[in-house]
Amino acid sequence: MDNPIADPMRPVPYRIERFERETHDTFTIELKPADGMPQPGFAPGQFNMLYVFGTGEIPISISGDPTYPESIKHTTRVVGTVTKAMHALKPGDMIGVRGPFGSHWPLELARGKDIVVVAGGIGLAPLRPALFDLLVHRKRYHRIVLLYGTRTPGDILFKRDLKRWRSHFDLEVHITVDRSMGSWLGNVGVVTTLVSHAPFDPSNVAALICGPEVMMWYSVEALQHRGVKNENIFVSMERNMKCATGFCGRCQYGPHFICKEGAVFRYDRIEPIFRKAEV
Ligand SMILES: Cc1cc2nc3c(=O)[nH]c(=O)nc-3n(C[C@H](O)[C@H](O)[C@H](O)COP(=O)(O)OP(=O)(O)OC[C@H]3O[C@@H](n4cnc5c(N)ncnc54)[C@H](O)[C@@H]3O)c2cc1C
Ligand code: FES
Repeated sequence: MDNPIADPMRPVPYRIERFERETHDTFTIELKPADGMPQPGFAPGQFNMLYVFGTGEIPISISGDPTYPESIKHTTRVVGTVTKAMHALKPGDMIGVRGPFGSHWPLELARGKDIVVVAGGIGLAPLRPALFDLLVHRKRYHRIVLLYGTRTPGDILFKRDLKRWRSHFDLEVHITVDRSMGSWLGNVGVVTTLVSHAPFDPSNVAALICGPEVMMWYSVEALQHRGVKNENIFVSMERNMKCATGFCGRCQYGPHFICKEGAVFRYDRIEPIFRKAEV
């Protein structure tokens, strides 16, 4: 998708319209351009650089609905300096936005196939726009299966969406938690254990994976075990970023720059370096 921003290095001021707490450490902000101009569209899987004025700038995936262009949503887990400062913002506060950047989930190429979406923890955020899009264009695909795993039931994101998606007869949603707590009666175990029983045709499926790197290693392995070919597996990679435009080299991942060629990669393109955490 073309980047409609004239200077991709200049953050554009956006106003926080809504602040929604998702879990104890994760929140969603809904943003609108402060000058009232339409915001640029995005493709599912792309990210923006969000600048908390006076603190710093970080890459965060777009988590909202690509078919609702009036505002843009980002879902963030608090881990350090900038995410903590972002968490302290309120509706009406301003934030700088550069983007959208990066590659996207290959939904066009996946037409006519089964789709299996494998998400771990905050990894559901970059996949959520893809799920919205898949459901808008439901007839283009065969079976759609979402496999979602979190550490505990309290870490499950987007509960309202998950309930709604579960009520669709033409979308299968399977959720699991690493550790059962409270009144949880659902699956217990890591998300990769769901792959072996998930209802999809391994010879005609596109697999979209996002989560912690170790979770993606084992998800790829489980999909390969089912017979899914490497070229039909797509993963979203994460490294620290600075420019997000392919100049500074901060996001280097082997021979790739994640900000330009990723964050979504076709698995066969990164296979030689995929399981090397130090790359
Ligand atoms: C393309 C891309 C998309 C991303 N999308 C999202 C998103 O949608 N939502 C989201 O919450 N995050 C996302 N991230 C990760 C996010 O950018 C980082 O969590 C953020 O930069 C951390 O900044 P900080 O200043 O709060 O933490 P720092 O102060 O930089 O880090 C504090 C501590 O947390 C650790 N840390 C940093 N990042 C992570 C991490 N991702 N997971 C666990 N520990 C970490 C650091 O090693 C350090 O020990 C994305 C990253 C990339 C590259
Ligand atoms: S962040 Fe600068 S090259 Fe990717």
